[in-house]
Amino acid sequence: MPPLPEWLLRCAVTDTPALEAKNLYKVFGRNPKDAVARLRAGESRQGIADAGTAAVIDASFTVQPGEIFVIMGLSGSGKSTIIRMLNGLLPPTAGDVVIGGRSVAAASPAELRTIRRESVSMVFQHFALLPHLTVLDNAAYALEIQGVGKSERRARAQEILDRVGLGDRAHAMPDELSGGMRQRVGIARALTAGTDILLMDEAFSALDPLIRREMQEQLVELQRELGRTIVFITHDLNEAMFLGDRIAVMRDGRIVQNGTPEEILTDPANDYVAQFVQDVDRARVLTAASVMEPPHQTTPVSAGVRGALRTLRAQQVGSVFAVENRRLVGVVTDRAVIRAVKSGETDLRKIVDAHVPTVGPDDLLTDIVETAVEATVPLAVVDENRRLLGVIPRVTLLAALGNVPATTREMPVIQSPIDMVAQFTPLVDAATEGTLVPGAATSEGSVR
Ligand SMILES: Nc1ncnc2c1ncn2[C@@H]1O[C@H](COP(=O)(O)OP(=O)(O)O)[C@@H](O)[C@H]1O
Ligand SMILES: [Mg+2]
Repeated sequence: MPPLPEWLLRCAVTDTPALEAKNLYKVFGRNPKDAVARLRAGESRQGIADAGTAAVIDASFTVQPGEIFVIMGLSGSGKSTIIRMLNGLLPPTAGDVVIGGRSVAAASPAELRTIRRESVSMVFQHFALLPHLTVLDNAAYALEIQGVGKSERRARAQEILDRVGLGDRAHAMPDELSGGMRQRVGIARALTAGTDILLMDEAFSALDPLIRREMQEQLVELQRELGRTIVFITHDLNEAMFLGDRIAVMRDGRIVQNGTPEEILTDPANDYVAQFVQDVDRARVLTAASVMEPPHQTTPVSAGVRGALRTLRAQQVGSVFAVENRRLVGVVTDRAVIRAVKSGETDLRKIVDAHVPTVGPDDLLTDIVETAVEATVPLAVVDENRRLLGVIPRVTLLAALGNVPATTREMPVIQSPIDMVAQFTPLVDAATEGTLVPGAATSEGSVR
């Protein structure tokens, strides 16, 4: 992947929100102002139907710089109407849009054109490429409008095309490209414009599912690198959940919930949202950090083999994590402990297995399932310093994926403790003088 040029990396470093919608209303019809007054007075959308169609009702939200803000709702819920008000294509019936601290309602026509040219780019569902221009000139088009000279704009467009994986198709014509490639050109064109805000209206909805997923992943990657602010519209909840830092859920013109994907999934504001999220692909939304359990089954390395044995027995589990200064050293199994006891080994470090499956707190469940399936111990969630943040027993993972509410905070047993009596009685007896036999005296003091 080629390194990114400086001009591309200009991420807004400011506290000012990138974009604000303030009590936006849009009514289409004979008497829009009157309709808004009646809506404000408490009449319903159906109630004011004689005055017009209330496409957007009292929508307020704030989009922070560098965020992907998703507006999600069924067809007809008012998404496109909102996005057209965001870039000044449609005047609101009431309310205001503020871009980078500047009121769109108060802007003159000339200022509006400047905002559209320099602050906000659009990516459409049907690409809207110019058929007679090459891919390169399509990608460079916004710069041409901005008055950038031919060689510079082509150089910038080429960089972006390389970035979206179309560098070698720069001289193709749009009709020689697949749908996915054409939408990449659409994105390249919006990125080349260099605007801080990208508005994407159902940009991936026309693509088939595999291409679509690829595009979603690429968009997230681009976003991480470029730090642009994106308002992304979709009717697809899975897409919303995957892309959105935050999601506004719309119904009949109103925003019914505004929150992170996890909030919307785990705490839906009402039955409508709850029904919506029922079928969501949770694996692509939930992170390791959001499902992990507190790490109870740990033993400090300094506690030695005896300490590990004590923990194994107290917790009635088959393995524990060995830690040192909260950092994960590895996993210790009951078998290894018993063997150590038998041979007189006291140093836990000697029997720790350092090959533990670990995952990061931000890893998506979809990316850790395979590790979990193969692991014989709970997954350890560690930060970049290998500090143990939590654990994910397999059953926790399965419960999260299946939307089973947690009824207990107890640690489930993944690797069942070995049947010490049956398998190791002679060995244990020799080592501990029988103290591991259930019912016998259980003071670990006798394990030496
Ligand atoms: N120009 C218009 N004139 C009249 N009604 C419109 C117009 N644009 C949109 N609407 C109506 O406003 C509502 C919201 O439409 P839209 O914003 O396109 O929804 P979405 O993008 O969520 O599918 C719909 O009922 C639609 O029929
Ligand atoms: Mg629409």
